[in-house]
Amino acid sequence: MAKYQENPMEGHEADGIKEFDNSLPRWWLYGFYFTIFFSVVYMVQYHITGSGQVMRDEYAQEVKEAEAKYKLAGAGGSSAAGARMLTVFKDAENIAAGKKLFTGANLCYTCHREDGGGLVGPNLTDDYWMHGASVDSLVASIEHGYPEKGMLPYGNNAKISDKEIMQIVSYVVSLHGTNPPNPKPLDPEREKKEEWKIQ
Ligand code: HEC
Repeated sequence: MAKYQENPMEGHEADGIKEFDNSLPRWWLYGFYFTIFFSVVYMVQYHITGSGQVMRDEYAQEVKEAEAKYKLAGAGGSSAAGARMLTVFKDAENIAAGKKLFTGANLCYTCHREDGGGLVGPNLTDDYWMHGASVDSLVASIEHGYPEKGMLPYGNNAKISDKEIMQIVSYVVSLHGTNPPNPKPLDPEREKKEEWKIQ
């Protein structure tokens, strides 16, 4: 109590509660000075020189980067393939890379055969599909797999890049219409004739 009584009273009193003229705690005061200093730096950086980006600018910048990255400017890009630029490769090198993944660690060949004719999994070379004949549906089949039927995501459950997925898709596309010998018989219940729209 002694400390408070040394300080003169301010003369404020409300309902019997009196206010003393104590000095502010150091830690509080330094915090207060820091906020003043900070606000000046902030104001100069964000509102005067503009070298810091306010939220609106940050958003615009990110949209710009995304548009450049996915080449979306103007285009709707609503399909999964469009938004991610999942284009089918036509060149021998990427198709060969796809074949290597298909016939290698991703294990596709163990169920669909190297030539895609089908074994445990369906024939991937004909016009009959269970899950659709489009780039999107091929990508979806690879990404999600059909675990209840034995096909793990990516074939072996180890995630691969969009580029690798598209290399595999490109290999599958290159197999279309190749009529390999002794294909897995059609499952007329589930495999439906699909118009081939993949370019
Ligand atoms: C363990 C066996 C197995 C492996 C490994 C496997 N698949 Fe499959 N795959 C299947 C089965 C079974 C189905 C049919 C799913 C169904 O009945 O709905 C299937 C379906 C598919 C389909 C859809 C076919 C259609 O008619 O719509 C595609 C595309 C496909 N697999 C591609 C691949 C690729 C590419 C790989 C390698 C990354 C792979 N699969 C690895 C067994 C396998």
